[in-house]
Amino acid sequence: MRAPKIHSSPTLPSVLPPAIAVLVAAEGALPASLASALTAPEAEWLAAERAAKTPLVRVVRYGQGMIYVLTAPVKPTPDLVREAVRKLGHQLQALLLADRVEALHVIGGETVSADLPLALAEGVVLSAYYFAPYKTKPEDPKPVRLTEVTVVGAAEADINWLAAVLDGVFLTRDLVNTPFSHQSAVQFADQLSEAGQKAGYSTEILDQPRIQTLKMGGLLAVNQGSPDPPTFSILEYAPAGTEQDAPIVLVGKGVVFDTGGLSLKPTPNSMDFMKSDMAGAAAVAGTLAALALAGVKRRVVGLIPATDNRPGEAAFAPGDVITMHDGQTVEITNTDAEGRLILADALSFAKRYQPSLVIDIATLTGAAAAAVGKEGIVLVGNASEEVKDALKAAGHRVHERLVEFPLWDEYKEQLKSDLADLKHYQPGAQAGHVSAAGFLEAFTSYPWLHLDIAGPSFLFAPDSYRGKGGTGTAVRLLTEFLKSFSSKS
Ligand code: BES
Ligand code: MN
Ligand code: ZN
Repeated sequence: MRAPKIHSSPTLPSVLPPAIAVLVAAEGALPASLASALTAPEAEWLAAERAAKTPLVRVVRYGQGMIYVLTAPVKPTPDLVREAVRKLGHQLQALLLADRVEALHVIGGETVSADLPLALAEGVVLSAYYFAPYKTKPEDPKPVRLTEVTVVGAAEADINWLAAVLDGVFLTRDLVNTPFSHQSAVQFADQLSEAGQKAGYSTEILDQPRIQTLKMGGLLAVNQGSPDPPTFSILEYAPAGTEQDAPIVLVGKGVVFDTGGLSLKPTPNSMDFMKSDMAGAAAVAGTLAALALAGVKRRVVGLIPATDNRPGEAAFAPGDVITMHDGQTVEITNTDAEGRLILADALSFAKRYQPSLVIDIATLTGAAAAAVGKEGIVLVGNASEEVKDALKAAGHRVHERLVEFPLWDEYKEQLKSDLADLKHYQPGAQAGHVSAAGFLEAFTSYPWLHLDIAGPSFLFAPDSYRGKGGTGTAVRLLTEFLKSFSSKS
């Protein structure tokens, strides 16, 4: 779906609009224009609710609309305050839906810092997401949905940035929520290309013959059991003047459905949500879309190897040896460890760009989900501490937090094979999220980071503004990081 539009306006209209959210500090006063609009009983009641520390007070001005008064809580850091305000935005959105509000004005009280009304708008808009393209019957009663949010006093640049990022998140969520029946590798590539035409990045789709010519043996092996061909999409955003720069390359796992292949997955809590195994690829597309919409002056390339993983007649098998794009041979031990094979080919392909940094994003391992749950993203990699610190700081700012694991040599021992150059997975080994990263590293020759988003990318139960289903994880993180971090400095 399209995200509600976000605007800014210098002041609140003198005739008050029908729905206003005002964010105040615990002891802070309402803006004068709002305080003077309340009747004495309304003001008295509001004061009592605030004294009782009610975080969200709904003042009904009968016949004249609503004023929602939200109190920003006190937290140990500004990042945590912003996150609490995003969550207040989620609570507010539930009321807006009940109150049939189409357009909302957001304003901050006098002592509230300028970023907080934006965080409130962010939480509201992220919570307004819904996905219903396959519903053929109208909802009864027909809901009135939020279409516009105006943040009073916000800088134009901040609004444009927020709107671009939210469009990117919505795109990623849509792509993740689209089922396999509507998203073969070819359809997925077309969806990425179509999104690029709208947002402003270019897409080149390599088809099966090109992939064969390039000898992408990892992608071809995973695809063997499928009746549908694989694709390899190259997304590029290079605004004028950056075309010759060394790019940052983002590589996204695009497994459009993961049955496990011959090493078949069980259905409950496993195969049943594997339409989301392209969430890394979707996050790459959402990130490029947001950067393009915002007009960030930076060259970014996205590489998306895509296929389903199925146990068809020609499927690759445990015990096979395959030859990768870069010529290394790999012993297959479990066909459900398919993600690292398609990513490895993309990582070696990335060398031709002479990138300043490569980040891969993938729903790679159940071990990552077990280690950090839905609250965090696993980070492993060999880029500089400076780069890692910048990414982690961005993670705190947007509350998509990273947990770094070390790539000790002992983990890489698991990759030794008697038969081939490498084994892609050691059956029974612990810390599978780390050894998987060790396998990927063998295909890199540049500063590199790996993000395993298996935990947070798809949720079975709603979690505040992240909703349920596809969350759009890593788009807010990567856009925040890429906006501020200059790899040249
Ligand atoms: N797509 C899965 C990982 C996954 C698990 C994503 C849970 C999202 C939620 C991946 O391809 C996979 O099957 N990994 C296996 C690897 C194992 C067989 C080496 C895993 O982690 O169990
Ligand atoms: Mn798998
Ligand atoms: Zn997978």
